[in-house]
Amino acid sequence: GIPIMDSLKALREWRTKAFEEKKSVGFVPTMGALHEGHISLVKRSLEANDLTLLSIFVNPTQFAPHEDLSSYPRTLPRDLELLSRISVPAPASGISDNTTNAIRKTSAVFVPTVDEMYPSSVSQNLQEQKGTFVEVKGYGEQMEGRSRPTFFRGVATVVTKLFNAVQPTHAYFGQKDIQQGLILRRMVSDLLMAHPTAQNVHIVPTARDPTDGLALSSRNAYLSPTERSYADTLYRMLKAGEDGWDEGGGREEVVRRARGVFDEVVQKAGRDGEGVQMRLDYVEVNDPWTFEVVEGNERNPGTVLVLSGALWIGRTRLIDNILLGDA
Ligand code: PAJ
Repeated sequence: GIPIMDSLKALREWRTKAFEEKKSVGFVPTMGALHEGHISLVKRSLEANDLTLLSIFVNPTQFAPHEDLSSYPRTLPRDLELLSRISVPAPASGISDNTTNAIRKTSAVFVPTVDEMYPSSVSQNLQEQKGTFVEVKGYGEQMEGRSRPTFFRGVATVVTKLFNAVQPTHAYFGQKDIQQGLILRRMVSDLLMAHPTAQNVHIVPTARDPTDGLALSSRNAYLSPTERSYADTLYRMLKAGEDGWDEGGGREEVVRRARGVFDEVVQKAGRDGEGVQMRLDYVEVNDPWTFEVVEGNERNPGTVLVLSGALWIGRTRLIDNILLGDA
């Protein structure tokens, strides 16, 4: 099986050895309940690094007190089983010996404790927190941050801790959480981090269910079968918005088209009488550098915008995004 490290001490020894052997370390931070989205990040890391480390840590400080920290899926044995089945061909060594180094697998899994990650104290409650926190000011308040005002502070804090512990050469994040990846890249740049450098913070395309395009997420496990049958609504909204953009529409038209799909689906759900509760949190077009809402029809050569949204289905909050550009 894959070696599991549950202490900082073991991790640091492992990392020191990798430094000594001049091996590159690719790092994939996760909260577990692994799925093909996580696996796509692992594969990217395996392809580009001598060693790959995945962490599993359900980080309390990125959950607001009313959010799903206690019910968040914890499936460690399954996660390890899934990971152990993943390998990629190792790059040709130039030595004609095809018995060694034929494949690369995840080198180790880091599963730290809450106490080691938060030596000062830990609380989900802003007023009760003590110790050191990292805030990327001006970027964590828009988009997802409007609905989850303390989320990016928790994420930036835990990822700083993880980067300090792991000192990765490269780190991998998913486009599904695009604001998270962009904020973390900015944080690494602002804090002059060297392991990884901002250039080595990678954002990997969103892995989707091949049948209906639903973005894979650990939280999809919360959905009942009926809810699951409506869960592609957000992606369909984004695709409808994209059609509006491709036909020359600006922000208003894109959002109107996306909301149109939502309204249709809600009506259909009402007629079907299956009792599926859906609530649109937001759907919006934002600039990927400032995260500000785009005004009018900003269509310049090379423009890239983010069309993103969050949708509640029952008690499950789903997020997704696509990029709009002059492709
Ligand atoms: P988690 O939700 O477990 O996601 C771990 C990584 O997998 C993130 O970079 C996320 O963007 C990526 N990911 C999730 N679903 C994906 C999909 N369908 N396709 C591609 N990548 C996907 O994000 C977190 O954990 C936490 O906030 C963390 C960064 C670990 C900090 O606690």
